Amino acid sequence: MRLRGLVNCRNTCFRPATGENVFVMFYCSYNTESSLREREKNKGREEEDNKIQASSYWGISRPKIKREDGTHWPWNSFMPWEAYRADLSIDLSKHHKPTTYLDKVAYTTVKILRIPTDLFFQRRYGCRAMMLETVAAVPGMVGGMVLHLRSIRRFEHSGGWIRALLEEAENERMHLMTMVELVKPKWYERLLVLIVQGVFFNAFFVLYVVSPKLAHRIVGYLEEEAIHSYTEYLKDIDSGTIENVRAPAIAIDYWMLPKDASLKDVITVIRADEAHHRDVNHFASDIHYQGKELREAPAPLDYR
Ligand SMILES: [Fe+2]
Ligand SMILES: [Fe+2]
Repeated sequence: MRLRGLVNCRNTCFRPATGENVFVMFYCSYNTESSLREREKNKGREEEDNKIQASSYWGISRPKIKREDGTHWPWNSFMPWEAYRADLSIDLSKHHKPTTYLDKVAYTTVKILRIPTDLFFQRRYGCRAMMLETVAAVPGMVGGMVLHLRSIRRFEHSGGWIRALLEEAENERMHLMTMVELVKPKWYERLLVLIVQGVFFNAFFVLYVVSPKLAHRIVGYLEEEAIHSYTEYLKDIDSGTIENVRAPAIAIDYWMLPKDASLKDVITVIRADEAHHRDVNHFASDIHYQGKELREAPAPLDYR
């Protein structure tokens, strides 16, 4: 049982059931019909999991994890204690005014990148968000990887920045896992993702090694654009252009949303996450501007 996970848990609503490796969530409230449906679905998943565990020669098994109502915790990619509530009070209007040459390069680059995006997707925000999240999940992974390699090469701590950047990458990936529940990518969109990822990963890697200052500034501006896109998305939901469908189950568990949460709630929390990424990346760039390394400043850990 992962006691460490419990001790460090920011959400005080979990507790282990006596004598069992079972975690319980308190915030769930179901209506009867959907509860029954979900129980059936969960039962099937649980049986599948048990089958896999029973056949494991290596003794690798995860403790059974349940919600308060006894339903199976269906996600392997994140645990109840990793779920969180997004900071909806975050200032969405903050903007880093480009003053230096590099800032202007970063700002102009992002504005130029927006042109083909606007032309291709126009107001198809579901599709747009899904595709952009495939890109947004790259910089944190590249930054975390470069800092990781530097840390083990130089025998020095990273000051928590490896984990902070990898958390950002994971958070962006969860945005994508959520969006893909709402919009199914077509074959040519998958092909586009393949090409864009190949180019963007390598370009960003080189950029991060050469100038992390510029790399983080570009990400900061990309996040400002993401906030704008999700604000437009919300406007279309409010006007009825986009149907305010039910939130995907993964989003309800990941952001600890109410069971009757809607698409609007999901986009609102994703937008808050983007605002956090904006602040983290502009902050990281500012540290470099001061001639320091990231490890010299406190890393923004555990927001997700
Ligand atoms: Fe995102
Ligand atoms: Fe983001």
